[in-house]
Amino acid sequence: MQGGVLLREGVVLLREAGVESAAGDARRLLAHALKIAPDRLTLALHDPVDEAAQARFRTYIAARSQFRPVAQITGERLFWGRPFRVTSDTLDPRPETEVLIEHALAAPFERVLDLGTGTGCILLTLLAEMQSAQGLGVDVSSAALAVAQTNALDLGLQQRAEFCLSDWFSSVSGQFDLIVSNPPYIAEDEMAGLSRDVRDWEPHLALTPGGDGLSPYQRIAEGLARYLAPAGRVLFEIGPTQGKAVCDFLEHQGLEECRIWPDLDGRDRVVAARRPA
Ligand SMILES: C[S@@+](CC[C@H](N)C(=O)[O-])C[C@H]1O[C@@H](n2cnc3c(N)ncnc32)[C@H](O)[C@@H]1O
Repeated sequence: MQGGVLLREGVVLLREAGVESAAGDARRLLAHALKIAPDRLTLALHDPVDEAAQARFRTYIAARSQFRPVAQITGERLFWGRPFRVTSDTLDPRPETEVLIEHALAAPFERVLDLGTGTGCILLTLLAEMQSAQGLGVDVSSAALAVAQTNALDLGLQQRAEFCLSDWFSSVSGQFDLIVSNPPYIAEDEMAGLSRDVRDWEPHLALTPGGDGLSPYQRIAEGLARYLAPAGRVLFEIGPTQGKAVCDFLEHQGLEECRIWPDLDGRDRVVAARRPA
């Protein structure tokens, strides 16, 4: 069977299942089944597809028809231009999180702490871009930490990146001149409104802390006096309505220069502040 025919079959099945991004998803899954880069797919559509690749593609389409995210099926997501391994134990890195990277990289740092590291995408990107820096990534999920460790190895960053199981700061020692976090922040009553891809397949622990979604910011803010070095910076990813509450937590702990930055859609996405020198 030709690649183009197989692709059309996949698109039809995904549309019937109610997957909105059927055409793009089917293309990515066919490229993955053929073990080629997505930008090579058009050239391959006239070629015959062997039976093993057809079977792989149909398995992927069946998984996507159940709303399993494409990144969990292919096992990979590009973040800040680098590939990160993704599993059902980790949040699929989001493009919005690249806004936090952009602002974190706006000033130099030597020791960075990433609270709730997941795939390690924030910590490892910052270390890859700031080549003299060392970092620690923590998470309460040991399964997520195993993925982050694999990503560190794959990116050749294992000498500068450490990981440890920790409930926010509980197992952390020392001080850091940069602390970053994209904690779970979705309010409990917003969970029902999430897309099926997210609600049914991404780890609950990565999505919501329960209640109004703000508790991780308050807990982390309370630890900054001890773990953030004088003149050090903290950057949080936030939900679009949470900026003021998060700035209030930070200012209450004595942090200064609190700023709220938008993402590319114009929604508030990052809060940054500094500890006085
Ligand atoms: C929104 S995900 C962010 C993952 C990754 N940093 C990213 O930006 O893609 C939040 C992460 O925080 C972790 N987490 C949740 N509660 C935590 C806690 N009490 N202490 C440490 N990590 C926690 C989750 O396991 C999850 O990996």
